[in-house]
Amino acid sequence: MDRGTNERGPSNNAGCGVLVLGREPREHAMSQLAPAEYCREESFDSHALRRALSCFATGVTVVTACGPDDTRVGLTANSFNSVSLDLPLVLWSLSLRAPSLPIFSVASHFAVNVLADDQAELARRFATPLPDKFAGLTWRAGLGGAPILDGCVAQFECVNEICHAGGDHLIFIGRVHRFRTWNRTPLVFCAGNFRSAAAMSKV
Ligand SMILES: Cc1cc2nc3c(=O)[nH]c(=O)nc-3n(C[C@H](O)[C@H](O)[C@H](O)COP(=O)(O)O)c2cc1C
Repeated sequence: MDRGTNERGPSNNAGCGVLVLGREPREHAMSQLAPAEYCREESFDSHALRRALSCFATGVTVVTACGPDDTRVGLTANSFNSVSLDLPLVLWSLSLRAPSLPIFSVASHFAVNVLADDQAELARRFATPLPDKFAGLTWRAGLGGAPILDGCVAQFECVNEICHAGGDHLIFIGRVHRFRTWNRTPLVFCAGNFRSAAAMSKV
């Protein structure tokens, strides 16, 4: 197959649904830098994009909040990131389809619980829609009532300052009012799997 002249070719090895081949992959092939997966805007689907984004290894958090009627919500989120040190700002994003969205949208605060490598079960629990994700867990109410979980690597208690629309997600920016850290090993999420940061070698 002439990879450079086919506009619509079959899936490549990595399984990108519809692969559009153009000038860029031909140049890559000739320079031995062919990507495992190549998509451009006309062809990429959300699965291919999700696969590509999963190359970005992240930590794993459980973000929690408490609504005006004392309802507690929490979800596993790896979209957490730092924004600024001065002001101390962090962000994370929430799917518009998440059942917890109405409460996160009105909550005055949120807490970010950064999970340790022995908390993968907790990550799975908070990634599953359940009537009460906190049942049987040890937690206490932090600022604004946002649940603080035991056994984490770090916790950030934040005022829910800004909410931006971002495609099919809402982006929450919070101002950190309190944080704590422990000497524990972080849980990592990469290529769709939970891993321990302990298994990672220094380079
Ligand atoms: C590792 C991992 C990271 C996730 N990160 C996010 C995220 O950043 N934002 C999001 O909206 N959902 C994320 N999810 C999915 C939510 O955890 C899941 O949809 C959860 O059920 C939403 O909570 P809710 O059903 O109580 O609203 C992630 C799931 C996993 C396993």
